[in-house]
Amino acid sequence: MNRALFAATWISMACFAIYIVIFYGGAIPAHALDDWNLLLPDVYVKGAFVQTAAIAAHFLAGAVLLAIGPAQIVTGQRGTMPKLHRVMGRVYAIAAGVAGFGGLTYIVLQGTVGGTVMNIGFSLYGVSVIVAAIETYRNARRKQFDRHRAWAIRLVALAIGSWLFRLDYGLWLKAIHGLGHSHSYRGPFDQVMAFFFYVPNLLIAEMIIRRREPSSRSHVTLNVVTGAATVLVGTSTYLFAASYWWPHIAARLGIA
Ligand code: HEM
Repeated sequence: MNRALFAATWISMACFAIYIVIFYGGAIPAHALDDWNLLLPDVYVKGAFVQTAAIAAHFLAGAVLLAIGPAQIVTGQRGTMPKLHRVMGRVYAIAAGVAGFGGLTYIVLQGTVGGTVMNIGFSLYGVSVIVAAIETYRNARRKQFDRHRAWAIRLVALAIGSWLFRLDYGLWLKAIHGLGHSHSYRGPFDQVMAFFFYVPNLLIAEMIIRRREPSSRSHVTLNVVTGAATVLVGTSTYLFAASYWWPHIAARLGIA
Protein backbone atom coordinates (compact mmCIF):
# COMPACT_ATOMS: atom_id res chain seq x y z
CA MET A 1 0.00 0.00 0.00
CA ASN A 2 2.77 2.40 0.91
CA ARG A 3 4.43 1.68 -2.41
CA ALA A 4 1.19 2.36 -4.27
CA LEU A 5 0.80 5.69 -2.50
CA PHE A 6 4.44 6.59 -3.21
CA ALA A 7 4.07 5.69 -6.90
CA ALA A 8 0.77 7.59 -7.24
CA THR A 9 2.34 10.65 -5.57
CA TRP A 10 5.43 10.53 -7.78
CA ILE A 11 3.36 10.21 -10.99
CA SER A 12 1.07 13.04 -9.89
CA MET A 13 3.97 15.34 -8.95
CA ALA A 14 5.68 14.55 -12.26
CA CYS A 15 2.47 15.57 -14.10
CA PHE A 16 2.48 18.88 -12.19
CA ALA A 17 6.19 19.41 -13.02
CA ILE A 18 5.60 18.72 -16.73
CA TYR A 19 2.70 21.18 -16.70
CA ILE A 20 4.87 23.88 -15.08
CA VAL A 21 7.73 23.43 -17.56
CA ILE A 22 5.54 23.27 -20.70
CA PHE A 23 2.83 25.77 -19.79
CA TYR A 24 4.66 28.36 -17.63
CA GLY A 25 8.19 27.79 -18.96
CA GLY A 26 6.98 27.44 -22.57
CA ALA A 27 5.27 30.84 -22.36
CA ILE A 28 8.72 32.51 -22.25
CA PRO A 29 10.01 31.50 -25.73
CA ALA A 30 6.43 31.81 -27.07
CA HIS A 31 6.33 35.46 -25.86
CA ALA A 32 2.98 34.63 -24.24
CA LEU A 33 3.56 35.67 -20.62
CA ASP A 34 -0.06 36.86 -20.38
CA ASP A 35 -0.97 33.15 -20.31
CA TRP A 36 0.43 33.01 -16.75
CA ASN A 37 -2.72 34.87 -15.70
CA LEU A 38 -5.12 32.20 -16.96
CA LEU A 39 -5.32 30.42 -13.59
CA LEU A 40 -4.45 33.25 -11.19
CA PRO A 41 -4.99 36.88 -12.19
CA ASP A 42 -1.96 39.22 -12.32
CA VAL A 43 0.77 36.63 -11.84
CA TYR A 44 2.36 38.43 -14.82
CA VAL A 45 2.28 42.22 -14.84
CA LYS A 46 3.78 43.85 -17.92
CA GLY A 47 6.89 45.89 -17.06
CA ALA A 48 7.26 44.42 -13.55
CA PHE A 49 10.62 42.87 -14.36
CA VAL A 50 11.85 41.85 -10.87
CA GLN A 51 8.68 40.05 -9.77
CA THR A 52 8.37 38.39 -13.19
CA ALA A 53 11.95 37.09 -12.96
CA ALA A 54 11.39 36.02 -9.32
CA ILE A 55 8.20 34.09 -10.03
CA ALA A 56 9.69 32.55 -13.21
CA ALA A 57 12.71 31.26 -11.22
CA HIS A 58 10.29 30.04 -8.55
CA PHE A 59 8.22 28.10 -11.14
CA LEU A 60 11.23 26.30 -12.59
CA ALA A 61 12.76 25.58 -9.16
CA GLY A 62 9.37 24.23 -8.05
CA ALA A 63 9.32 21.86 -11.04
CA VAL A 64 12.80 20.56 -10.05
CA LEU A 65 11.58 19.94 -6.48
CA LEU A 66 8.58 17.98 -7.74
CA ALA A 67 10.60 15.92 -10.20
CA ILE A 68 13.52 14.84 -8.00
CA GLY A 69 11.96 14.80 -4.50
CA PRO A 70 10.80 11.15 -4.61
CA ALA A 71 14.13 10.01 -6.14
CA GLN A 72 15.93 11.76 -3.32
CA ILE A 73 13.87 9.79 -0.76
CA VAL A 74 14.59 6.47 -2.52
CA THR A 75 18.37 7.04 -2.78
CA GLY A 76 18.47 8.33 0.81
CA GLN A 77 16.51 5.44 2.31
CA ARG A 78 18.34 2.61 0.62
CA GLY A 79 21.73 4.24 0.81
CA THR A 80 22.66 2.43 -2.41
CA MET A 81 23.58 5.51 -4.46
CA PRO A 82 25.27 7.89 -2.03
CA LYS A 83 26.94 9.97 -4.75
CA LEU A 84 23.70 10.50 -6.63
CA HIS A 85 21.96 11.30 -3.33
CA ARG A 86 24.59 13.94 -2.53
CA VAL A 87 24.45 15.56 -5.99
CA MET A 88 20.64 15.56 -6.13
CA GLY A 89 20.54 16.75 -2.52
CA ARG A 90 22.50 19.89 -3.44
CA VAL A 91 20.25 20.50 -6.44
CA TYR A 92 17.17 19.96 -4.25
CA ALA A 93 18.39 22.34 -1.52
CA ILE A 94 19.25 25.07 -4.07
CA ALA A 95 15.88 24.60 -5.82
CA ALA A 96 14.09 24.87 -2.46
CA GLY A 97 15.97 28.11 -1.73
CA VAL A 98 15.16 29.55 -5.17
CA ALA A 99 11.47 28.53 -4.94
CA GLY A 100 11.24 30.06 -1.46
CA PHE A 101 13.15 33.31 -2.23
CA GLY A 102 11.39 33.71 -5.59
CA GLY A 103 7.96 33.29 -3.95
CA LEU A 104 8.86 35.66 -1.07
CA THR A 105 10.21 38.33 -3.44
CA TYR A 106 7.00 38.12 -5.43
CA ILE A 107 4.87 38.43 -2.26
CA VAL A 108 6.83 41.47 -1.01
CA LEU A 109 6.74 43.28 -4.38
CA GLN A 110 3.32 42.28 -5.61
CA GLY A 111 1.36 40.31 -3.00
CA THR A 112 -0.72 37.20 -3.58
CA VAL A 113 -4.12 37.13 -5.24
CA GLY A 114 -5.77 36.34 -1.86
CA GLY A 115 -4.54 39.41 0.08
CA THR A 116 -3.31 39.57 3.69
CA VAL A 117 -4.27 36.07 4.89
CA MET A 118 -2.75 34.38 1.84
CA ASN A 119 0.32 36.65 2.05
CA ILE A 120 0.88 35.55 5.66
CA GLY A 121 0.23 31.85 4.94
CA PHE A 122 2.51 31.76 1.88
CA SER A 123 5.25 33.87 3.53
CA LEU A 124 5.42 31.51 6.52
CA TYR A 125 5.51 28.66 4.04
CA GLY A 126 8.39 30.23 2.08
CA VAL A 127 10.42 30.94 5.23
CA SER A 128 9.83 27.36 6.48
CA VAL A 129 11.01 25.91 3.14
CA ILE A 130 14.21 28.00 3.24
CA VAL A 131 14.97 27.12 6.90
CA ALA A 132 14.33 23.40 6.25
CA ALA A 133 16.58 23.45 3.14
CA ILE A 134 19.44 25.14 5.04
CA GLU A 135 19.15 22.78 8.05
CA THR A 136 18.95 19.66 5.84
CA TYR A 137 22.11 20.67 3.98
CA ARG A 138 23.97 21.93 7.09
CA ASN A 139 23.37 18.71 9.06
CA ALA A 140 24.42 16.54 6.10
CA ARG A 141 27.70 18.49 5.86
CA ARG A 142 28.27 18.05 9.61
CA LYS A 143 27.48 14.31 9.30
CA GLN A 144 24.67 14.68 11.85
CA PHE A 145 22.60 12.13 10.00
CA ASP A 146 19.70 11.80 12.48
CA ARG A 147 19.14 15.56 12.31
CA HIS A 148 19.70 15.55 8.56
CA ARG A 149 16.98 12.89 8.18
CA ALA A 150 14.56 14.81 10.41
CA TRP A 151 15.03 18.07 8.47
CA ALA A 152 14.87 16.25 5.13
CA ILE A 153 11.49 14.78 6.13
CA ARG A 154 10.27 18.28 7.09
CA LEU A 155 11.58 19.72 3.80
CA VAL A 156 9.87 17.08 1.66
CA ALA A 157 6.65 17.46 3.70
CA LEU A 158 6.75 21.20 2.96
CA ALA A 159 7.70 20.83 -0.71
CA ILE A 160 4.80 18.46 -1.43
CA GLY A 161 2.51 21.13 0.07
CA SER A 162 2.51 23.11 -3.19
CA TRP A 163 1.37 20.02 -5.06
CA LEU A 164 -1.24 19.14 -2.39
CA PHE A 165 -2.60 22.70 -2.62
CA ARG A 166 -3.62 22.07 -6.27
CA LEU A 167 -4.99 18.60 -5.56
CA ASP A 168 -7.07 19.87 -2.62
CA TYR A 169 -8.51 22.58 -4.85
CA GLY A 170 -9.12 20.05 -7.63
CA LEU A 171 -11.15 17.84 -5.30
CA TRP A 172 -12.94 20.71 -3.59
CA LEU A 173 -13.95 22.49 -6.81
CA LYS A 174 -15.22 19.33 -8.47
CA ALA A 175 -16.64 17.31 -5.60
CA ILE A 176 -17.93 20.09 -3.29
CA HIS A 177 -18.49 22.67 -6.07
CA GLY A 178 -15.98 25.06 -4.51
CA LEU A 179 -17.99 25.80 -1.35
CA GLY A 180 -16.29 28.71 0.47
CA HIS A 181 -13.95 29.45 -2.47
CA SER A 182 -14.04 32.78 -4.25
CA HIS A 183 -12.36 33.77 -7.52
CA SER A 184 -10.26 36.31 -5.57
CA TYR A 185 -9.11 33.52 -3.20
CA ARG A 186 -10.57 35.38 -0.17
CA GLY A 187 -13.39 32.98 0.75
CA PRO A 188 -13.38 31.01 4.05
CA PHE A 189 -12.12 27.88 2.28
CA ASP A 190 -9.28 29.86 0.66
CA GLN A 191 -8.25 31.39 3.99
CA VAL A 192 -8.04 27.96 5.63
CA MET A 193 -6.16 26.64 2.60
CA ALA A 194 -3.52 29.40 2.92
CA PHE A 195 -2.16 27.31 5.85
CA PHE A 196 -3.78 23.91 5.45
CA PHE A 197 -1.57 22.81 2.54
CA TYR A 198 1.54 22.62 4.72
CA VAL A 199 0.68 22.69 8.47
CA PRO A 200 -0.87 19.16 8.55
CA ASN A 201 2.10 17.87 6.50
CA LEU A 202 4.49 19.25 9.11
CA LEU A 203 2.51 17.56 11.91
CA ILE A 204 2.63 14.23 10.04
CA ALA A 205 6.37 14.80 9.42
CA GLU A 206 6.90 15.20 13.20
CA MET A 207 5.00 11.93 13.80
CA ILE A 208 7.20 10.14 11.26
CA ILE A 209 10.38 11.58 12.82
CA ARG A 210 9.31 10.37 16.31
CA ARG A 211 7.76 7.10 15.10
CA ARG A 212 8.24 3.86 16.99
CA GLU A 213 7.62 0.42 15.45
CA PRO A 214 3.85 0.24 14.80
CA SER A 215 1.82 -2.58 16.42
CA SER A 216 0.05 -5.09 14.14
CA ARG A 217 -3.26 -3.30 14.84
CA SER A 218 -1.90 0.05 13.78
CA HIS A 219 -0.46 -1.69 10.67
CA VAL A 220 -4.04 -2.47 9.59
CA THR A 221 -5.16 1.14 10.27
CA LEU A 222 -2.10 2.42 8.37
CA ASN A 223 -2.93 0.23 5.37
CA VAL A 224 -6.54 1.47 5.31
CA VAL A 225 -5.41 5.12 5.57
CA THR A 226 -2.70 4.83 2.90
CA GLY A 227 -5.14 2.90 0.65
CA ALA A 228 -7.72 5.69 0.95
CA ALA A 229 -4.98 8.30 0.38
CA THR A 230 -3.86 6.49 -2.82
CA VAL A 231 -7.41 6.57 -4.19
CA LEU A 232 -7.72 10.27 -3.27
CA VAL A 233 -4.39 11.16 -4.93
CA GLY A 234 -5.39 9.25 -8.09
CA THR A 235 -8.87 10.81 -8.24
CA SER A 236 -7.78 14.39 -7.56
CA THR A 237 -4.82 14.11 -9.99
CA TYR A 238 -7.21 12.95 -12.69
CA LEU A 239 -9.69 15.77 -11.94
CA PHE A 240 -7.01 18.48 -11.85
CA ALA A 241 -5.10 17.13 -14.86
CA ALA A 242 -8.25 16.78 -16.99
CA SER A 243 -9.53 20.28 -16.15
CA TYR A 244 -6.32 22.35 -15.93
CA TRP A 245 -2.98 20.69 -16.60
CA TRP A 246 -3.75 18.82 -19.83
CA PRO A 247 -5.83 21.56 -21.59
CA HIS A 248 -3.05 24.09 -20.85
CA ILE A 249 -0.28 21.72 -22.02
CA ALA A 250 -2.25 20.88 -25.17
CA ALA A 251 -2.86 24.57 -25.94
CA ARG A 252 0.85 25.39 -25.51
CA LEU A 253 1.86 22.49 -27.77
CA GLY A 254 -0.77 23.47 -30.32
CA ILE A 255 -2.61 20.16 -30.13
CA ALA A 256 -5.81 21.46 -28.53
C1 HEM B 1 7.43 22.60 -4.83
C2 HEM B 1 7.44 23.91 -4.71
C3 HEM B 1 6.56 24.86 -5.49
C4 HEM B 1 5.91 24.69 -6.68
C5 HEM B 1 5.93 23.47 -7.58
C6 HEM B 1 5.18 25.90 -6.95
C7 HEM B 1 4.43 26.13 -8.08
C8 HEM B 1 3.70 27.27 -8.34
C9 HEM B 1 2.88 27.50 -9.51
C10 HEM B 1 2.73 26.52 -10.67
C11 HEM B 1 2.29 28.71 -9.39
C12 HEM B 1 1.34 29.40 -10.40
C13 HEM B 1 -0.09 29.17 -10.03
C14 HEM B 1 -0.57 27.80 -10.44
O1 HEM B 1 -0.50 27.42 -11.60
O2 HEM B 1 -1.02 27.07 -9.55
C15 HEM B 1 2.74 29.26 -8.13
C16 HEM B 1 2.36 30.49 -7.64
C17 HEM B 1 2.83 31.02 -6.46
N1 HEM B 1 3.67 30.41 -5.54
FE1 HEM B 1 4.55 28.63 -5.73
N2 HEM B 1 5.40 26.77 -5.91
C18 HEM B 1 6.24 26.17 -5.00
C19 HEM B 1 6.71 26.70 -3.83
C20 HEM B 1 6.38 27.95 -3.35
C21 HEM B 1 6.91 28.53 -2.16
C22 HEM B 1 7.94 27.87 -1.23
C23 HEM B 1 6.35 29.74 -2.01
C24 HEM B 1 6.59 30.66 -0.85
C25 HEM B 1 6.84 31.85 -0.84
C26 HEM B 1 5.45 29.95 -3.13
C27 HEM B 1 4.70 31.08 -3.39
C28 HEM B 1 3.92 31.30 -4.51
C29 HEM B 1 3.20 32.53 -4.78
C30 HEM B 1 3.17 33.76 -3.88
C31 HEM B 1 2.51 32.37 -6.00
C32 HEM B 1 1.62 33.37 -6.72
C33 HEM B 1 0.27 33.32 -6.08
C34 HEM B 1 -0.58 34.55 -6.39
O3 HEM B 1 -0.40 35.24 -7.37
O4 HEM B 1 -1.43 34.81 -5.59
N3 HEM B 1 5.51 28.83 -3.91
N4 HEM B 1 3.59 28.38 -7.51
